[in-house]
Amino acid sequence: RIPDPCVMVIFGASGDLTRRKLMPALYNLAYDGLLPPGFSIVGYARRPMSDDEFRASMRKAVERFSRRQPIDEGVWEAFASGIFYFEADFADEHAYPKLGELLERIDRARGTGGNRIFYLATPPDAYELIAERLGEAGLAQPADRDSWVRLIVEKPFGRDLQSAIELNEHLLRFFREDQIYRIDHYLGKETVQNILALRFANTIFEPIWNRTYIDHVQITVAESIGIEDRGGYYDRAGALRDMVQNHMLQLLSVIAMEPPIAFEADPVRDEKVKALRAIRPIRPDEVDEYTVRGQYGPGFIGGQPVPGYRQEPRVDPNSQTETYVALKLFIDNWRWADVPFYLRTGKRLPRRVTEIALQFKQVPHRLFTGPAAAGLEPNALVIRIQPDEGVSLNIAAKAPGPRVRLRTVSMGFLYGTSFLVQAPDAYERLLLDCMLGDSTLFTRRDETEAAWLPITQILQGWAEELPPLFPNYDAGSWGPPEAEEFIARDGRRWRRP
Ligand code: BG6
Repeated sequence: RIPDPCVMVIFGASGDLTRRKLMPALYNLAYDGLLPPGFSIVGYARRPMSDDEFRASMRKAVERFSRRQPIDEGVWEAFASGIFYFEADFADEHAYPKLGELLERIDRARGTGGNRIFYLATPPDAYELIAERLGEAGLAQPADRDSWVRLIVEKPFGRDLQSAIELNEHLLRFFREDQIYRIDHYLGKETVQNILALRFANTIFEPIWNRTYIDHVQITVAESIGIEDRGGYYDRAGALRDMVQNHMLQLLSVIAMEPPIAFEADPVRDEKVKALRAIRPIRPDEVDEYTVRGQYGPGFIGGQPVPGYRQEPRVDPNSQTETYVALKLFIDNWRWADVPFYLRTGKRLPRRVTEIALQFKQVPHRLFTGPAAAGLEPNALVIRIQPDEGVSLNIAAKAPGPRVRLRTVSMGFLYGTSFLVQAPDAYERLLLDCMLGDSTLFTRRDETEAAWLPITQILQGWAEELPPLFPNYDAGSWGPPEAEEFIARDGRRWRRP
C-alpha cells in the first residue's frame, strides 16, 4: 500500500536525529518507491538557510548515513525537489500562520491534499510549546474531512510518571490520541517484530512460554559506545530513563504479553499494557534488592584507551548519573508469577549486543550427572536483536565417542543466511506506518504511563538512598562486580553473549 500524498514538517531540522536517521530513512523509502507521489518535507529550525542550502546539507547526511550507497541521482533529484526549509524560532507565534501558508502552497503545487505529519525532533522541553502553537494556529486539526494531521513525538517522553502524564494531557488538548504517534525505534526493528511472529505464528513455543517451563528471562542491551556528544542530555537522564523506560520495557512487553485477538493497533497495545501493568511494584526500601547502578571509569574498548564518564564533555565531574543498570522485575499474572526478568544495559561494555534469552528449567529428573554433564547449560531460547540477527535454541547433545559426555549445541536461524535481503532501518518502517495511519508499533498513552510507573518507583528509591560510589566499572568490562553478585544471590548468572 502506498500512503496518501502528504507533507512532513520536521521540527529540529538542523539536529542530529534529522541527519542521522530521518532523512536517510525517507530517502531509502523514496529509493524503494514507497513514498506517495508529491511527498514533501519542510525542515523547521532557527538557523538561517535557503531551501537549496538545506537540500545540500541533507544530501550530505544521506550520503553519510543511508544504507543505499552510492546515492542514486535520479531518486535524489525527485526527492530533493520536495524538500523545503522554514526558518523560525519554535516559540514564535507569528511563524505558525506563515508555516500554514507555506503548507497550503505546497498542497497546491505538489498535490499533498492537506495531509500533514508534524515530527517533534527537538529537545523535549519544546514539545508542549510546539503542540500549543500548532493548535493555536489551527494546524493541529485537518482542514476538511478528507485530510489528516498526525504528530510524531520522539523520546524522551517525560522524566517520570508525573511529567509524562502532564505531557500527555497537554498534547491531548490540541491533538486526539489517534493523531499522536509516540515513537520508540526499537519497535521498528525487524527482529523485535519477529518476536510476535515467533510467538504467535508458531505452535511449538507458546505452550512452553510460561512459568511452568521458563526459569527466568534475561534481556541485555549492551553498547560499546560511550555517550558520544550527548553529555548535556545524558547526564540528566541516565541509563534507566534513556534505555529501560522505553526500549527495554518494550522488549519485555512483547515477550510477556498475552496473544492479542488481532494484529492491529489496539488489540496489540491492549495486551502490552496489561503486561506492563502487571509489573510488581518496587518499594523505595527495596531498590537495593532489585537494582544495581554503575558508572564507567576510564578503560579500553577494542584496545583503544577511552575516558571515563566523568571526563566526557558536558558531564558534571562529580556526576552521580548511572551509565549501567541491572534490574529484576516480576510480572504478577498467571503466566509469569515468580519468574524473574533480569534486565541490564550499559554504555562502554565490551561489545554492542542486544539479546533476549528465555532460560528453561532443568529436567525434572537428571539422568546425566557428574562428568557426563559437566558444563552443560539448561535449555535457552535466545533472540538476537542485533547484530547477527537471529534466533537460536540451545539444547544438550551427546558428544561423539565411547563415553557419554553431553555438550550444549545450538539450533539456529540467522536472518543473514535465511533471507538474502537487507533489513530496512527501524525508522523507515515507522515513518511509513505513520503515513499509512497504522499505530500498532507506536506507544499509546496508557502504555507510556504504565512503563513510567515502575521506573518512577525505582527513581524514588534511588533518591532516598545514599549516592552510589562511582565510577564502579572500567570502560570495556561487563559492568560493575555488584551486578554479578546481584544475580548470583538468586543462584543464576548472566549469559555472556
Ligand atoms: C537511543 C538512546 O534511544 O537508543 C541511545 O538514547 C542509545 O543512548 C540508542 O545509544 C541505541 O539504539 P540502537 O538502535 O543503536 O540500539
